[in-house]
Amino acid sequence: MLNSIFFMLFIGWASANVSERLQLLQVYPQTDEERFYLEQLKEEHDVWYSSEDRYDVLLTSSNINWLLSSLQKRGIASAIVNDDLDRDIKEEFERLSKNELFFDYDDFNNLTSIYKEMDKIAAKCIAGFVCSVDSIGSSVEKQPIKRLKISKNVANRKAVWLDATTHAREWLTTATSFKIIKHLQDNYKVDSTVTSLLDKYDWHVIPVVNPDGYLYTWEKISNRMWRKNRSINSKPTCPGVDLNRNADSAWGTSGASSDPCSETYRGSSAASEPETQALQKQMKTLGSNIIEIISLHAYGQYWLIPYGYIDNATNACYAAPDAAETLRVANAAANAIEKVYNTKWKRGPSCSTIYPASGRMTDYAKEKAGVPYAAVPEVRGKNFVVPPSEIEPSFREIWAGIVASIAAIEKKPNASH
Ligand SMILES: *[C@@H]1O[C@H](CO)[C@@H](O)[C@H](O)[C@H]1NC(C)=O
Ligand SMILES: *[C@@H]1O[C@H](CO)[C@@H](O)[C@H](O)[C@H]1NC(C)=O
Ligand SMILES: *[C@@H]1O[C@H](CO)[C@@H](O)[C@H](O)[C@H]1NC(C)=O
Ligand SMILES: *[C@@H]1O[C@H](CO)[C@@H](O)[C@H](O)[C@H]1NC(C)=O
Ligand SMILES: [Zn+2]
Repeated sequence: MLNSIFFMLFIGWASANVSERLQLLQVYPQTDEERFYLEQLKEEHDVWYSSEDRYDVLLTSSNINWLLSSLQKRGIASAIVNDDLDRDIKEEFERLSKNELFFDYDDFNNLTSIYKEMDKIAAKCIAGFVCSVDSIGSSVEKQPIKRLKISKNVANRKAVWLDATTHAREWLTTATSFKIIKHLQDNYKVDSTVTSLLDKYDWHVIPVVNPDGYLYTWEKISNRMWRKNRSINSKPTCPGVDLNRNADSAWGTSGASSDPCSETYRGSSAASEPETQALQKQMKTLGSNIIEIISLHAYGQYWLIPYGYIDNATNACYAAPDAAETLRVANAAANAIEKVYNTKWKRGPSCSTIYPASGRMTDYAKEKAGVPYAAVPEVRGKNFVVPPSEIEPSFREIWAGIVASIAAIEKKPNASH
């Protein structure tokens, strides 16, 4: 079915049937039974967001009726919140193909432009710092996965790790990461928080973890909603691996599909993908020198922390011995974000706060690489295609969360770890 959604997406543009279009359906479950039914949809549909009281499901105009009548039969409320996603994608595509010659911090940028801007930033490094751009590895299609480092070149200095766009279509996360870099670059010795965060920590930023997927979403309108990498699978009609289900942490257990056609396909084995291997290697190398990993995703307004998977001994969400401490930090982050625009941000371990998932990169970071704090902020928005005016607010929120989480980490009660 998912297969057919993508297939229809392709023929939707190729064929004459212009009335066929992508729509976004919100479903509002009230009972566990209804939630259970909606969970089953994840196997066959592209569910963009799910929480206790809301599921966002991508559908085509020709198959939406089937689901609507099925929901109606069960008495589950729903609403079409976007009746023509193609229109939004087309608008975005047209805006961005106007081919400006410069990198635009207030809009989305292609991979070439992003990599050029990273070099430019490094060339204009903050006085007293050492900046570099390196490639931490190559993607399946041999694109470099580039990292910008702003450091003092002192051995074993503590570092903050920020990454974005593990899932190809989550463009707002990359744009948010660039605003953060720019904020750091422009405000040393101007803003005391920035000054202190640069004086104390190196910054490692990977704005595009999944360059193949990102390139693919930019290629043409019909690719915009791609999530996975571009891996060729056992089913050639269903390429791609969900890089956030592929890491070597409880791989292949809960909440990750073994079906290559699923949006949450985990890959053929733990860390089968070169992107995963590259990140894991860096995480392991830096280890506990990283005070916090912040891995940006979209969307939903969550500050998620490890762990994501079900403990097979207890059949409940796995809770680390320091779960109370990491939750304290997540609370500090989410509370700070809420104050920026008076919004609501849920926070907590990924497994119990959204849904179980295994093979998550941040779980690997904490469990296998010894990084003490890890967060997956799910940024604002109700679609992967958002107006560029969302970039600045997203930056303000995420920056507030990062500042507050690091402040909380620094004030760790000197109890056990
Ligand atoms: C085109 O799509 C519409 C709306 O989904 C559908 O009802 C119709 O049967 C399709 N027509 C063709 C020729 O496929
Ligand atoms: C990428 O964006 C830049 C503008 O920032 C533009 O000049 C260039 O043509 C674009 N490259 C591709 C491959 O689309
Ligand atoms: C993507 O899939 C290919 C084919 O499985 C795989 O080899 C590669 O490691 C994965 N990465 C991506 C981005 O697909
Ligand atoms: C689940 O249990 C099996 C054996 O009981 C063990 O080998 C495996 O590592 C466990 N998986 C996790 C994620 O704990
Ligand atoms: Zn994501």
